[in-house]
Amino acid sequence: MTDSTPLSPAGDRHFDGLAEKFAGSLYGGPRGALRLAMLDELLPAMLELDGQPVLDVGGGLGQLSAWFARRSHAVTLLEPAGDMLEQARQALGGWSVTFLQAPLQALPEHAPGPWSLIACHAVLEWLRDPRAAFATLADGLAPGGQLSLMVFNRDALRMSNVVKGNLQKALDDRLEGTGKRQRLTPISPLCHDQIVDWSREHGLSIRAVAGIRIFHDYLRQPPANEDDWQRLVALERRYCQTEPHWRLGRYLLYTLVKESEHPSRENSR
Ligand SMILES: C[S@@+](CC[C@H](N)C(=O)[O-])C[C@H]1O[C@@H](n2cnc3c(N)ncnc32)[C@H](O)[C@@H]1O
Repeated sequence: MTDSTPLSPAGDRHFDGLAEKFAGSLYGGPRGALRLAMLDELLPAMLELDGQPVLDVGGGLGQLSAWFARRSHAVTLLEPAGDMLEQARQALGGWSVTFLQAPLQALPEHAPGPWSLIACHAVLEWLRDPRAAFATLADGLAPGGQLSLMVFNRDALRMSNVVKGNLQKALDDRLEGTGKRQRLTPISPLCHDQIVDWSREHGLSIRAVAGIRIFHDYLRQPPANEDDWQRLVALERRYCQTEPHWRLGRYLLYTLVKESEHPSRENSR
């Protein structure tokens, strides 16, 4: 296969040309349904929401923006891939959403804020330098502002590779994708410890954390019927914030809050 969807100049995996595949393979199936069901439950519990404006960074097809727009937030959706943005625009017609075609790295120019609420779900793992991106998100927050961050969990990727029998791959720690083909394996899967360290560096406190798809990806066979599906969703809900289960969620969902007082970053490095 040719590299039909190359990386951006910054080395990030913009989803140009992937809108159909992403819509089908994630949101078209049970994984997407489960993610949205969990967000319905977790976002109101993990965030303090009062209708504040929200910046959705790497908003993709707009599912998360739609979630906030339906709850009367004015949403700014930032997304570098033109076809993703166009589909989001079509899906969100009629809602109070501003669309910006730009990468996260251009936030200071395009949407400087400061923002009281930023959402960035399933984006950092597609960047060559997620740590620098984390700093940009932190800088965009107002004091006391909240960052709803969701990242692809490297520990869960290892676990699912082992469960699938990819033992040498796991042993060699060859877990990340190259981002150069149509595969949807992230190029920079992340660990909880990295988020803890980066939060500390940038004066963010971790208010809450949850795992998304803590059981689903390890099932030997998919739920046989609707009743089993509901049982699985109930289990995911019950244990998504419980030790040890949240740690092996395919995605980790955080609420990070910018401390009002924080020594300058230069001093804390
Ligand atoms: C897995 S999708 C997630 C989309 C959406 N946030 C969601 O949760 O459904 C990753 C998105 O990040 C975008 N992306 C890649 N590099 C980016 C960058 N440098 N800045 C902002 N978004 C980026 C991709 O184009 C893609 O739309």
